Amino acid sequence: MSRRLLVTSALPYANGSIHFGHLVEYIQTDIWVRFQKMSGHEVHYVCADDTHGTAIMLRAEKEGITPEQLIDRVWREHKRDFDGFLVGFDNYHSTHSDETRALSEGIYRALKGRGLIDIRSVEQFYDPVKSMFLPDRFIKGECPKCGAKDQYGDSCEVCGATYTPTDLKNPYSVVSGAAPVRKASDHYFFRLSADECKRFLEDWTQQGDHLQDEARNKIREWFDQGLNDWDISRDAPYFGFEIPDAPGKYFYVWLDAPIGYLGSFRNLAARGGVDFDAFTKPGGDTEMVHFIGKDILYFHALFWPAMLEYAGYRTPTKVFAHGFLTVNGEKMSKSRGTFITAGSYLDLGLDPEWLRYYYAAKLGPTMEDIDLSLDDFVARVNSDLVGKFVNIASRAAGFIHKRFGGKLFSSRFTERFESELPGLREAAGVIAAHYDAREFGKALREVMALADVVNQFVDKHQPWELAKHNDTEQLHYVCSIVLNAFRLLTIYLKPVLPAVAARAEAFLNVEPLTWADAQTLLPAGHAIRPYEHLMTRVDQKQIAALVEANRENLAPTAATHSPQRHAQHQENAVNEATKPETATAAATAPAPAAPAPAPAEAATPTISIDDFMKVDLRVARVARAEHVEGAEKLVKLTLDLGTETRQVFAGIKAHYEPSKIEGRLVVMVANLAPRKMRFGESQGMVLAASADGSGVFLLDVDSGAAPGMRVK
Ligand code: 2FM
Ligand code: ZN
Repeated sequence: MSRRLLVTSALPYANGSIHFGHLVEYIQTDIWVRFQKMSGHEVHYVCADDTHGTAIMLRAEKEGITPEQLIDRVWREHKRDFDGFLVGFDNYHSTHSDETRALSEGIYRALKGRGLIDIRSVEQFYDPVKSMFLPDRFIKGECPKCGAKDQYGDSCEVCGATYTPTDLKNPYSVVSGAAPVRKASDHYFFRLSADECKRFLEDWTQQGDHLQDEARNKIREWFDQGLNDWDISRDAPYFGFEIPDAPGKYFYVWLDAPIGYLGSFRNLAARGGVDFDAFTKPGGDTEMVHFIGKDILYFHALFWPAMLEYAGYRTPTKVFAHGFLTVNGEKMSKSRGTFITAGSYLDLGLDPEWLRYYYAAKLGPTMEDIDLSLDDFVARVNSDLVGKFVNIASRAAGFIHKRFGGKLFSSRFTERFESELPGLREAAGVIAAHYDAREFGKALREVMALADVVNQFVDKHQPWELAKHNDTEQLHYVCSIVLNAFRLLTIYLKPVLPAVAARAEAFLNVEPLTWADAQTLLPAGHAIRPYEHLMTRVDQKQIAALVEANRENLAPTAATHSPQRHAQHQENAVNEATKPETATAAATAPAPAAPAPAPAEAATPTISIDDFMKVDLRVARVARAEHVEGAEKLVKLTLDLGTETRQVFAGIKAHYEPSKIEGRLVVMVANLAPRKMRFGESQGMVLAASADGSGVFLLDVDSGAAPGMRVK
């Protein structure tokens, strides 16, 4: 019976790159979807970027662009990565869309109409400088247990203690560096603890077969701890959708994220040919299936079904959670180069189907973590895909072309095929069952065992010997059997290797293969096309280059988390040693900043590292550079420091055309006392090299550095 499926993968946040961890899920879902489509089912696979929230708002601000510009850019990057890895979404949308807004408002109004929304005052940390409430991860301070500095509000990376942000000693806002204050405001809650909700969720999670056993047990534990109401609002400033009739209150990003599944689907349906209601309203025979990581089970197994149920939508048929990815047995790590981005892999020209195959070979239906061992990756891809599968076609194709004009054996040999390679066609049923059950590892083991059997057949009949001895009919027969076997293996691998399958289809001169095609063989006398290489081997050197490309020096990255760390203290401690008058003009930057001639160097007394550290040097982007009316030497610079902008007057007019330096990175002294000038206040100094009469040279910063990074 034909199934009708709406399938989703979790929506990636629009403020980061797609990496190997993400790809586990998209590749897993894509394989499942391709298998279902090949089996003749109606499948709509939708996804979108998850675009809202504080982190995205601040990231855009840091880059000096609007959130809309940021999410637009990231959408294109994500789309490129997904296309590159052959993830075949039927629609890739954005939660920042009219569809998702309308659906979110509708769902909210329905919940409110059922009396499931409460308004309560909540006290939270507030940044008095930025005038915004601070999510936990934007608060840092000293660990209450061991005193380690700069620890996040939930746990200490040094001693492992867990706590709440209020426990931190000397907390500060990661955004502005200011000490946060407690402030109350009204929040909107979804009353999950209401009796009817609790009963519904108990039933939905524990009774049906919507969840894996491990997930069901996990949720049992959460129930035992008690189900709390869910805070679904955030105060302005926030990048998201404003709550209807609640000015200044926005839907929390996790409220509209899963609604984004439906938003993407509605966007697809609007193009015609798909019935939105049939997949989203209760009572039909369609299925709604979500693939997610185990870390977001709470949202998908509790909040999401409850939202749907009480807003009059159908609830998910299945929520399939998978585990995390480790690389070489460890957590992905930037310093080790194992936090690998999808883009870097594609840029280096590595074959996406290598990774698809490797992940598939490791994947099963459980929430267990999977490991990518880079050595095993090379060995397995080369031995299975190239050594076993692709090799089969290349071993037979040449003879068919050279000796038989590209045509297969001219009589039908279905029975003989069965007796030569028993089980090769029947295996379709078992392999299909494995794919359907997300037992991809088992499916591929089955396929590779069949590939072994086919290779043994080739070894036994030795076509090259048959050719040598001019045993023409037997050669034709053997090679025709082998190519038919190759066609069957192609069908079995097609959900995992869609591009290789497409090349194989072209070579075999057949229409796109479906699962049902495993019931048939190629017709007698069928003409094939010339064989072209289907896949190359992985070279260990490519993997070494990949790791190198992803290796990051952690020092500057750590600094970006809190570019304005303790800015207040530093501002107060501005040292007298820095000369305020030089703050205004790079042209008069002090000698130590330039490769000054020896006498100037000698004149500068030695300083300690502590002295040096008093100077807060930061990477800044020139957001704007303008002529200053009436100023002979000065250019007015607006510098983007990531989380704030500064106005600096620099004496570079004779050396730089303002429009030419917009956008470039410079180094600035960020803790220089502001200085009032005739043209306005100068709030720092830009570093440049100079010597008498030789010009002025702004310091350059290598690409990769971000505004706000500390220079030391
Ligand atoms: O965890 C995440 O990356 C979220 N952006 C997933 C959202 S999934 C869905 F609910 F939208
Ligand atoms: Zn600690």
